[in-house]
Parts: sequence; C-alpha cells; structure tokens
Amino acid sequence: MRAEVLSEVIRERCTEKVLSSEPFPASAETTLTDQLLELAAWAPFHRPADATHLQGRELAAVMPWRFYVLDAASCRRLRDRLLGKDSSKIMEMLATADCLVQATWLPNPAEYQTDGLFAPTLENMEHLAAAGAAVQNLLLGATASGIRNYWSSGGILRTPEVFDLLGIPPRELLLGSLFFFPQDVRNATVATSKLRDKRGPLSGWVERVSVR
Ligand SMILES: Cc1cc2nc3c(=O)[nH]c(=O)nc-3n(C[C@H](O)[C@H](O)[C@H](O)COP(=O)(O)O)c2cc1C
Repeated sequence: MRAEVLSEVIRERCTEKVLSSEPFPASAETTLTDQLLELAAWAPFHRPADATHLQGRELAAVMPWRFYVLDAASCRRLRDRLLGKDSSKIMEMLATADCLVQATWLPNPAEYQTDGLFAPTLENMEHLAAAGAAVQNLLLGATASGIRNYWSSGGILRTPEVFDLLGIPPRELLLGSLFFFPQDVRNATVATSKLRDKRGPLSGWVERVSVR
C-alpha cells in the first residue's frame, strides 16, 4: 500500500506553470510548511559541504544545498523590483506563485582556475546530485499536498542582482528556482512541459546486464 501511494505521487508530479500578467493577491497562508521543507533534508548526501560554506553563517547544516524561501508577498515584491528588466514567463509566475524556493548547491572551492561554473570533480558531482534529490523530495511532498509546482532554471533569478537582493552568497550555485502555485488558478493559464510525454518505455534507457 505504501509503495502504491509513493508510486502514485511520483507519477502525479508534473511541471505546471501558472501564468498571469495580473498579480494574484498574496495569500498570507504558508504554502510550504516546515514539515514539507523537512522532506528535502532526508535526501541522501555523500559528503558534508565544504567548511567555507559553513563558517560564520546561520545556515551551517552539513548538507550541500541551501533553500531560500519566499512567500507570496515576497514573490510579488520581487516581481515589482524586476519589472522592466525581464519579459520572460518568470515574471508571470512571480505574479501567481504562493511560494518560490531558490535552491542552491554548495560547490567545493576550486583548487585551480577553471572556466566553468565549478571544478569538475567527483565531489562536486555528488554534491549536485544530492541537491537534486533534495529538490525532488520537496516537489513530491508538494505534489502529495495538492500544491502545483515547477522546477525552473531561473532565468533572471540566477543573476547576481537577484542573489544580492535575496542575500544569497555568490559562491552558491542556483540549481533551480522552484515555484509553488495555488490550486485555484483564477483566469491564469496553466502550461505543462512538452517533454513530459517523451519519456518512452523502459527499454529506451534501462539495460539489464548479466555477467557470465
Ligand atoms: C534542472 C532542471 C531545470 C529545469 N528548467 C526548466 C526551465 O527552465 N524551463 C522549463 O520549461 N522546464 C524546466 N524544467 C522542467 C522540465 O522541463 C520538466 O521536468 C520535463 O520536461 C518533464 O516534464 P514533467 O516535469 O511534467 O514530468 C527543468 C527541470 C530540471 C530537472
């Protein structure tokens, strides 16, 4: 029975973007309760985050991710601050979201100069993977609670300006801007993902390997 419920929630999770040019009134209710957020903490992680991310900070947990949570009123205010600077759907989602989570992961400091966003090490790959698992836990929890959700790359929400506005240290890397929307979408448009139905059968990505 537990397996059935879990399977149902995993399959039910779906990208839903609630889009409106007219801002929704900001609900005072907390959409992402602490219980929901705590689900993310139960994701597997292999190693503690590097000490440089922990020193002198209140956010000193060992997990290699951080979640910065904005309620509906803050989403609207962030939209106001960004008006005129962005014409993407991000603005239409800041107009409707009950909650936004800026989910970051914590790369180890590079030991040598690199052109990329972060040093291509096994440790960093594992930090990133762990942060991805934490995000998925939260999305599944939201889905099970009837909260529409969407994992976005972030667009303008990745910029140093927005990091600065939200007090996110620039050494952290945005893994996703997670939007959580109300069930009642008023006159808004709800967009889903074009890739959702492209997964195909197991045979496209699973090979059972036998060793003789
Ligand atoms: C790391 C990551 C970043 C994503 N960024 C975007 C994005 O910027 N825009 C978008 O439309 N979908 C984005 N998505 C959502 C995917 O497009 C979506 O999950 C996929 O198409 C499958 O659809 P489903 O979530 O409905 O199953 C992202 C997903 C992941 C895992």
